[in-house]
Amino acid sequence: MLSFSKKIRLSNITLQDRVFSPYLHQAEIAQRTDSLAQALTEVYAQQFPLLLVVLKGAFRFAADLVARLDFPLEVEFIRLASYENSQSSGQIRTVLGLEDRLSLEDRPILIVEDIVDTGLTLDFLYAQLQARQAHQLATVSLLFKPDNFRGEHPPAYFGFSIPPAFVVGYGLDYQGQGRQLNDIFREKPSAEV
Ligand code: XMP
Ligand code: MG
Repeated sequence: MLSFSKKIRLSNITLQDRVFSPYLHQAEIAQRTDSLAQALTEVYAQQFPLLLVVLKGAFRFAADLVARLDFPLEVEFIRLASYENSQSSGQIRTVLGLEDRLSLEDRPILIVEDIVDTGLTLDFLYAQLQARQAHQLATVSLLFKPDNFRGEHPPAYFGFSIPPAFVVGYGLDYQGQGRQLNDIFREKPSAEV
C-alpha cells in the first residue's frame, strides 16, 4: 500500500537548469489545508463568499481547499501575470476572468493564492477589486514569504511561512514546469548542487 508518511524520502528534481530538493510533503500540505479550511469555515460558513482563485499557480491548492469547505460559496478563476523566471518582476498587466461579474459589492471575497512573495501582486489585485466596489476582501495563501513582503495587504490566512528561496510543485512552476508535482520542492543554493 502506498503510504504518504513523512518517512518517505523524496529525491531531488531537476527542472530546466535548476535543482530542487524536497521541502513540504503532500501530507503536511493536506494537514495545513485542513486547518485553513476549519478557520475559514468559522468565519465564512454563513456568508456565501466568492472565492477568487488566482491562476495558474493556485489551482491545486484551491481544489483541495474547496473540497474541505462544506458551506455555500462560489468560485471564480482569475489570471494576472507578474512573474518571470524566478524573480518577481512587479510588472503586472491586467486581471482577466471577472468580465461576467457585474457587481462585487456587498459580498465577502476571499482571494485564493498559491504564494505571496513581495505582495505587489496582491496590492494590484486589491486596487482592481476595490475599484469595482469590492470592500470585504481577504486572502488565503498556501505559502507566504514574510522576508520579501513589502505590500499593503498581507494574507489573513496562510499555510506556511517560508524563507525567500524559490519553490515549485503543487501548482507552482519554474518556467511552466513542475505544477503536477504533489509535493513542494525548494531550489537548492548553487553551492549545494
Ligand atoms: P508577489 O511578489 O507579487 O508574487 O507577491 C506573487 C507571485 O509570484 C510568483 N511567485 C512564485 N512562483 N515559486 C513560484 O513558482 C516561488 O517561489 C514564487 N514566489 C513568487 C507567484 O506566481 C505568485 O502568485
Ligand atoms: Mg500566483
